[in-house]
Amino acid sequence: METRKLGDSDLEVSAIGFGGWGIGGAPFWSTEGDNASVKAIRKAVDLGINFFDTAPVYGFGHSEELLGKTLKPVRDRVILASKCGLRWSREALGAISKNASRTSIEEEIEASLRRLATDRIDLYMVHWPDVHTPQQETLETLVDIQRKGKIRHIGVSNYSIDQMKEASRYGKFISLQPEYNLLSRSIEAEVVPWCLANGVGIVAYSPLASGVLTGKYDKATRFKDWRSKGVIGTFQGEAYERNIDKVERLKALADSAGRTAGQLAINWVLRQPGVATALVGVKNERQIEENVSAAGWAPAPEIDARLNEVFARE
Ligand SMILES: NC(=O)c1ccc[n+]([C@@H]2O[C@H](COP(=O)([O-])OP(=O)(O)OC[C@H]3O[C@@H](n4cnc5c(N)ncnc54)[C@H](OP(=O)(O)O)[C@@H]3O)[C@@H](O)[C@H]2O)c1
Repeated sequence: METRKLGDSDLEVSAIGFGGWGIGGAPFWSTEGDNASVKAIRKAVDLGINFFDTAPVYGFGHSEELLGKTLKPVRDRVILASKCGLRWSREALGAISKNASRTSIEEEIEASLRRLATDRIDLYMVHWPDVHTPQQETLETLVDIQRKGKIRHIGVSNYSIDQMKEASRYGKFISLQPEYNLLSRSIEAEVVPWCLANGVGIVAYSPLASGVLTGKYDKATRFKDWRSKGVIGTFQGEAYERNIDKVERLKALADSAGRTAGQLAINWVLRQPGVATALVGVKNERQIEENVSAAGWAPAPEIDARLNEVFARE
């Protein structure tokens, strides 16, 4: 598996990263059970994936615990990424709030280290900007934790350029984790150039638009999990139906390239400027096997041109 330097840092991350949200399960996703998740994690390691992304909120600690337990024997060979800044009061979707204050982060880091069964987190990100806490407080807290050796690098996620500019006054962060896929290209105009100019590597999340770009859903699909809540992505209404029409064309293009729709979609993300890794959410060994084959090739130029036409930036 190809590795790439993440921003202005010594981290060499695999082009395909393991997205740990799905394996956390309820109340966001359904899973195929912890056994299938553990096998998927082990298979990822065997296939050369070294970058594992999780967050406390994924399954309310469960994703971190599963990854920590499973990766313990290979801890020194993998890069563990987790996040802070989202808290929950009950194990329910509606009980999540943003909090990137010093008090909260200082509690969160200890809990994450414990669940991940490690003494340091390689990349520690602010999950969502918390507009009620000054960036100065958040970044200075992270820098203090970094000085203690509990985290190696700082990153941000879902930040705007203005938020990154402000944050960069108080501490060095090396990565941005935004949503990025064929159906969601808003970062290209300004965010990507800013990141490139400032040594900030892009960790692209939802490269399959949370499953839509695999081609396994149709216009009649009704999502019962978090995807019916309208937080990120588009999973209902006319915009969703238009996306499904595009996915039909993606399937035909992938077919002509001898690949699956999902592989072509992930492959496209990996070839975009500034992208260090694409975090793919997987639930079982079969999915990770299919997804690793998205790296290390490029489609014929005419297929790529058609892809960019069908999924033109809006
Ligand atoms: N920072 C943030 O705010 C943020 C937000 C979202 C995601 N993320 C990160 O990015 C990762 C990936 O995002 P994501 O889970 O939204 O979306 P994704 O990778 O775009 O899609 C994942 C879904 O696609 C399906 N899938 C994956 N490989 C497949 C294959 N080979 N064949 C068929 N279906 C396949 C699975 O569906 P099934 O469920 O049907 O198995 C899986 O749940 C997350 O795990 C997380 O680490 C971060």
